[in-house]
Amino acid sequence: TTSTHDFKVADLSQAVFGRKEITLAEHEMPGLMAIREEFAAQQPLAGARITGSLHMTVQTAVLIETLTALGAQVRWASCNIFSTQDHAAAAVAVGPDGTPENPQGVPVFAWKGETLEEYWWCTEQALTWPGAETGGPNMILDDGGDATLLVHKGVEYEKAGAAPSVDTAENDEHRVILQLLNRTLAETPQKWTQLASEIRGVTEETTTGVHRLYEMHQAGTLLFPAINVNDAVTKSKFDNKYGCRHSLVDGINRATDVLIGGKVAVVCGYGDVGKGCAESLRGQGARVIVTEIDPICALQAAMDGYQVARLEDVLDTADLFITTTGNRDIIMAGDMARMKHQAIVGNIGHFDNEIDMAGLAAIEGIVKDEVKPQVHTWTFPDGKKIILLSEGRLLNLGNATGHPSFVMSNSFANQTIAQIELFTKPEAYPTGVYVLPKQLDEKVARLHLEALGARLTELRPEQADYIGVPVEGPYKPDHYRY
Ligand code: NAI
Repeated sequence: TTSTHDFKVADLSQAVFGRKEITLAEHEMPGLMAIREEFAAQQPLAGARITGSLHMTVQTAVLIETLTALGAQVRWASCNIFSTQDHAAAAVAVGPDGTPENPQGVPVFAWKGETLEEYWWCTEQALTWPGAETGGPNMILDDGGDATLLVHKGVEYEKAGAAPSVDTAENDEHRVILQLLNRTLAETPQKWTQLASEIRGVTEETTTGVHRLYEMHQAGTLLFPAINVNDAVTKSKFDNKYGCRHSLVDGINRATDVLIGGKVAVVCGYGDVGKGCAESLRGQGARVIVTEIDPICALQAAMDGYQVARLEDVLDTADLFITTTGNRDIIMAGDMARMKHQAIVGNIGHFDNEIDMAGLAAIEGIVKDEVKPQVHTWTFPDGKKIILLSEGRLLNLGNATGHPSFVMSNSFANQTIAQIELFTKPEAYPTGVYVLPKQLDEKVARLHLEALGARLTELRPEQADYIGVPVEGPYKPDHYRY
């Protein structure tokens, strides 16, 4: 049980609605519920203080309550300013046994539509543990790496004795982070160093966060071990792909209600997310065009029947543009200036630097108008408008409710297993970046097959011998690509 009831959510009275949706979600998350049952008696996370930075949705609520069911104490923030579902946040803060008048749940700091200042304040609150000796967590559960980044930057600047001046900031978000760290350095000069000293590790959810971790590891600056949850097969080949296949069109529909059938849609990037997005749009009857820089992914797109083109060649003919690259500067202001009237532009990659929002705002005479929260038109001086979703942030969570429960049960089963691994076997994971053993990946898949009524064929011993794998798995070599 948590001893601290500090939290900040939009509206506690939504907790009842949130709890109803959490109950429905639990049935659709057989992996998480099976893990609760398996480890209920053992309490492997007793003593864990987990700081989570991950979209505060209904599915995440089931993850949080799985971690607490295994003995962990948890503090939580969302990893995006638009992705919180306020009823889920309220239900988590209230807890299954509390009431809005007497909240007894997990300290959660998240609401839909945070400012950047509020966002980083929430991240700091989730990382700050009143009563803990180090003042911080001993585990991080991250999505995109913002909690990990704050700790690492804090330690770096404390070592240097000062944080860079806010005048050196490259953009608004960087300015907010520098402001925060200049403040903590003045108030508590060893806050982050002390806090980091007890962190056993981080488990990271997404491609972009994993990318940051490998970079830090290569640079020799990584402070604690990390498990790359994203590259569990039952995560990136399911959540990134089938999750986006569901939630991309959900976001576009809720935002615009425009008929997708018959339209021309451009998907930038054909990795796991791009593959799901392209299929999603094709499923609605759009003619889909893919852009890629990687010849292998481009060839996959071509084989899957999509036209592969360059963005500049399709700007004035396509109706929808979706970025899925995890890279920066994919659709620039000049590109948007060339699009058709009422073209729809959105991003589903982790950060908001795929679409050049700053460049768009800097066009002289351009007018931004809010249609409703997270849906804006931008009218160019010549009268042409485009429709921009979630201000360039991931639209499936900004305009809809993200991935559905069943697919998130796979991702979060991996997260929970990774938390147990790092917390209970610190000696097995010296500082570095790891993926979970394949057998655990296969276990996650097994946990979900039964719920779908699937009957897996059992390998016979002589067959196992013939293909050279154990009867109980793992069934593939590590280099197999699925
Ligand atoms: P990935 O690495 O599998 O795919 C990205 C693809 O973009 C690669 O094939 C790459 O070659 C391509 N690319 C890079 N630069 C490009 C450019 N200039 N033009 C065209 N293509 C380019 O990564 P994955 O797993 O598909 O993730 C993509 C992003 O989506 C990441 O930021 C990830 O964190 C995020 N993500 C978002 C989710 C959501 O629910 N919104 C779910 C899962 C991941």
